[in-house]
Amino acid sequence: MRHSWFLLVGLPLTQAARVIQSNDDGWAEINIRTFFNSLTNAGHSIVLSAPAENQSGTGSSDATPKTVDSDGCEFGSCPAKSPPTGTNSSNTRLNYVNSFPVTSIKTGIDTTAPKFFDGAKPEIALTGPNVGSNLGIQVPFSGTVGAAVYAVKTAGIPAIAFSGSTGDPTAWNKPTPLYSQVYADLALNVTSTVLASGTPYLPAGVWLNVNFPAVSSTKCNNANQFSFVLSRIYSGLLSPKDVNWCGTDRLPTENSVVSKGCYVSISMGDASDKTDINDDRQAQVLAKLKPILSCLP
Ligand SMILES: *[C@@H]1O[C@H](CO)[C@@H](O)[C@H](O)[C@H]1NC(C)=O
Ligand SMILES: *[C@@H]1O[C@H](CO)[C@@H](O)[C@H](O)[C@H]1NC(C)=O
Ligand SMILES: *[C@@H]1O[C@H](CO)[C@@H](O)[C@H](O)[C@H]1NC(C)=O
Repeated sequence: MRHSWFLLVGLPLTQAARVIQSNDDGWAEINIRTFFNSLTNAGHSIVLSAPAENQSGTGSSDATPKTVDSDGCEFGSCPAKSPPTGTNSSNTRLNYVNSFPVTSIKTGIDTTAPKFFDGAKPEIALTGPNVGSNLGIQVPFSGTVGAAVYAVKTAGIPAIAFSGSTGDPTAWNKPTPLYSQVYADLALNVTSTVLASGTPYLPAGVWLNVNFPAVSSTKCNNANQFSFVLSRIYSGLLSPKDVNWCGTDRLPTENSVVSKGCYVSISMGDASDKTDINDDRQAQVLAKLKPILSCLP
């Protein structure tokens, strides 16, 4: 077919990556599926391994998966009493794990992904976009962050956690809401930028916490209206200086970035404790993200 021929030729093959995807809102929530579709269309090889149910707010909890309860998976996405782990039989890259976000991504990395990647490890872990922001003091409780941090800390896979302020939990088989498409487009842009920067995709022990501000039908309603701003999770009053950028040596907090309008915050987290990195790894991340970064007005 002519279209797929053009797609193949247009694709920079070096940037087609092996991706493991997860979240905490559940495998059947529309944000993770919209992003899965965008990544697939961009030529990446993805395995989605996410909780069978909503596991919002479960941080870094981990437990052996259990048989699904008598209500089935969320939004009726699997029958009552389904096995502890399961797959969509018409697209086996879509997998649920009836446990926490960390357990889901771990199962994906250890068991599911190797079947699709010829035994190789995923090159990058992407979580979310979470339904709702994960900013500052919310970060330690987020399962979307917990899964990303697990990938970096325990599996040595660079990871990005995405969260979006707009939206309510929505089933995968409903029409795609505008915010979900905008967040997937923005998340793909950040992912492509990190992949295009070459290996190692992120410095050792670092994950990114990316938050998208509100989308409405009249404001910030298309990915090209947004700017990306390098930020901190916490204010860092007692921390060493940040990388020199935008005319200062203190990055803005992610809260202050997303509250300004169509500005996406990108913070650099330390996988050992989910706080900010405050060392020369900031400059390495800055160099990678520079092509898309802006300064706040
Ligand atoms: C399973 O995959 C098929 C094909 O992509 C899709 O039509 C269906 O909605 C999916 N169901 C779930 C629960 O993922
Ligand atoms: C998941 O639970 C959280 C609170 O625990 C709630 O705010 C959210 O709406 C729920 N999401 C789904 C998919 O039901
Ligand atoms: C990514 O975002 C940057 C900065 O907003 C923009 O210049 C660029 O066109 C975007 N790239 C894609 C592929 O959307």
